[in-house]
Amino acid sequence: YMIDKGNHRHFMEKEIYEQPEVISHALGHYVNFIENRVLPASDVIDFAKVPSLAISACGTAYLAGLVGKYWFERYARLPVEIDVASEFRYREIPLAPQAAALFISQSGETADTLASLRYCKEHGLKIGAVVNTRESTIARESDAVFPILAGPEIGVASTKAFTCQLAVLAALAIAAGKARGTIGDAQEQAMVRSLAEMPRLMGRVLNSIQPKIESLSRELSKCRDVLYLGRGTSFPLAMEGALKLKEISYIHAEGYAAGELKHGPIALIDENMPVIVIAPHDRFFDKTVSNMQEVAARGGRIILITDEKGAAASTLDTMHTIVLPNVDEIVAPMIFSLPVQLLAYHTAVFMGTDVDQPRNLAKSVTVE
Ligand code: G6P
Repeated sequence: YMIDKGNHRHFMEKEIYEQPEVISHALGHYVNFIENRVLPASDVIDFAKVPSLAISACGTAYLAGLVGKYWFERYARLPVEIDVASEFRYREIPLAPQAAALFISQSGETADTLASLRYCKEHGLKIGAVVNTRESTIARESDAVFPILAGPEIGVASTKAFTCQLAVLAALAIAAGKARGTIGDAQEQAMVRSLAEMPRLMGRVLNSIQPKIESLSRELSKCRDVLYLGRGTSFPLAMEGALKLKEISYIHAEGYAAGELKHGPIALIDENMPVIVIAPHDRFFDKTVSNMQEVAARGGRIILITDEKGAAASTLDTMHTIVLPNVDEIVAPMIFSLPVQLLAYHTAVFMGTDVDQPRNLAKSVTVE
């Protein structure tokens, strides 16, 4: 990998556009695309036997882990305990020694994540590391290393590392489901086929949504607060969208589970606070739309990020709709990450902030 910006204004933009290529490289490590099968996850961690999985990470890596929790629980029927590493390490979590633990870290050097790893190790758990830097401390202290193969990430706000973490977690969840007998051959092949098509779809999305995103970002750059909502795996994505926006544009943003809207954030809704709704046409779509009706009824401005089916089914009066291709549930978080990243990026560019080096933030946090 060349460490330069190529034709891009910022490393962050370059890294967003690199995603189709690096994700396809990452997937190639976990999947056999000829037979549409996942490769066995690990000979150290036996997903068939572990009673539960603990996941710990910080920042964007934590939000990737949260998507992973939904996948491991749904597809592999494997219970997942997950927390941000700074809490995980001190909560005195009772852990079964037969369990396994996964630590997700781009740098492999985050102090709290490393401390959580050591806590699990002391309790006898098998340790897996989902890392970008294979020669890192977290990788070295783990029993199994699952590289995300994203290549060097320079922008402080994580983009390609996030989607590569998701791709690896998806492959691991399918492998765990196979090992535990909760995913059959046909389902495995269908899911792997969807993963195989994903890089090309990502390229298509990246080539088509820029004009729409730019005009929307110009409006967002005038806002003081933005609310992101989502259900299921779109909930962690809503939090990631809010995190990205606040990190680089300094606009206050919050990510909420769509169903929690009426338990608080609805009090903030007015015409000045846009609500960005991440809603692929999945089994939650109708519920999320009815939550949005409550936003519309209070004069809130809705930006709907959905797919073609969702756009056709929605009766919402939205300020803007971003329409993505229809995709399988397992790939939706990766595809829906693209508009979320680009919205934050272009908003920050309009604000004139230092996108690659946002104030007060560090790429790697090696102190507690
Ligand atoms: C910092 C970075 C984030 C990153 C987090 C965890 O906050 O700015 O982009 O998600 O640390 O870092 P790690 O290297 O452990 O993934």
